[in-house]
Amino acid sequence: MSEQAIGVFDSGLGGLTAVKELIKVLPQENIIYFGDTARVPYGTRSDKTIKMYAHQDADFLLSKGVKLIIAACGTVSSVASELYDELPVPFTGVVIPTASAAVKATRNGKIGIIGTPATVNSSSYKKEILRQNERITVFQQACPLFVPLVENGFISADDPIVKLTVERYLSEMKKENIDTLILGCTHFPIIAKAISDYLGRGVTLIDSGKETALYAANILGNAGLLNTSNTIGSCKYYVSDTVEGFRKTADVFLGKSVEYEAAHINIDKLAKSLK
Ligand code: DGL
Repeated sequence: MSEQAIGVFDSGLGGLTAVKELIKVLPQENIIYFGDTARVPYGTRSDKTIKMYAHQDADFLLSKGVKLIIAACGTVSSVASELYDELPVPFTGVVIPTASAAVKATRNGKIGIIGTPATVNSSSYKKEILRQNERITVFQQACPLFVPLVENGFISADDPIVKLTVERYLSEMKKENIDTLILGCTHFPIIAKAISDYLGRGVTLIDSGKETALYAANILGNAGLLNTSNTIGSCKYYVSDTVEGFRKTADVFLGKSVEYEAAHINIDKLAKSLK
């Protein structure tokens, strides 16, 4: 069991920011990643569609025999939380670990949350923060343009388009004197510098991918499922759009250039066959 892979999925490539951290925290683990690049973005779709996609993605990973599934996607974690109860293997999304880290980090009790429209509409992070500490004040802002900016390589903190978009979305929150900001979408750490430059050093950014990787390590440890071998684990990547598209952008998310073992899957066909 312990040598079985950890399954990670996202609507696209944002979840790779969690994979990057998983590789650091649990280098001996085998990882299978699925990025639904043919159907990204999820964050502007209806809850019904997001739930359907999330279940299909999880079923794909289950068909690979994974021992834990991580929804490295703020949108899926916010909208399809029933996966916690319905999957036959341990599961985590990004909301609980990220909200917990933000509650620990804040000094003035003012936390900002940014995410996709579906995430912000669900108030998932807000509810979890208030469940943990009802005295905290929370400010939320949907930032739908951040995902296409990142997916299209507009990521430099000096890029005027990036700067302008950051300012447009975050100017209200800046006035509220938050000291902690949740990057509630796994795409957002890629433009963390632009966000931090705008909000200033006094605001701590909480990276949902990083917090979730640490949380997943705890789940595996508590369940006795850690891979105890001494060899470095493998990473296999699957995408529903072209592998070439994945190769072009994956380096940006993983923070390094590596030889990827990547393959295409037809998620629609697979979803039908797994029914
Ligand atoms: N990575 C997804 C998330 O964390 C956002 C991308 C999308 O809208 O599909 O919410």
